[in-house]
Amino acid sequence: MKSAVLLMSLLFLCLAASSEAASPALPKGYAAWKKSERKVVTDKNSLFYGIHYIYADKKAQSGYLADNRFAEGSRIVVEFFTIKKDSSVDGPKNMVVLMQKDKRHTETGGWLFAGFGADGKSSGLDPVSTCFGCHQQEAAKRDFVISTKKDFKL
Ligand code: HEC
Repeated sequence: MKSAVLLMSLLFLCLAASSEAASPALPKGYAAWKKSERKVVTDKNSLFYGIHYIYADKKAQSGYLADNRFAEGSRIVVEFFTIKKDSSVDGPKNMVVLMQKDKRHTETGGWLFAGFGADGKSSGLDPVSTCFGCHQQEAAKRDFVISTKKDFKL
């Protein structure tokens, strides 16, 4: 009986560990990566309403330069800010999203998609139903990455 309880708690620990691995962390230090120009979307119907900046790590920069062909491990982050009446000033940060090239994620084109709150904590959005459809529609021929080297003046 005791061993059954032990087995159950071990099983529980394993499950807890694997679900942690499934909710990825925001890469530290992305603010030092190559940053896009400031992008302002004033259309209130757009998901991107507000101000955003895209950040690309070294591998992702090479991917943009290769006309959107990205190597395993490439990482791209977008930071979103609310928009104020005076759109020349960024409002508070309200969301961060991540794409990381990871061939295990076959259901989302070989990319890990993840959303975070302003505090950097996972927002637990489902990547297949929340993220991939749009990226597939807009950029199936560009490795599912919608922005291009022009956004970075690369
Ligand atoms: C309604 C369509 C739509 C949905 C849904 C969407 N995105 Fe995007 N995403 C875009 C567009 C459009 C861009 C390009 C923005 C730009 O060029 O400034 C983009 C850009 C990005 C980028 C920068 C790389 C690239 O493709 O240009 C990342 C990272 C990203 N999205 C992650 C996500 C994640 C994670 C989710 C789900 C939580 C998500 N997106 C959901 C439309 C969408």
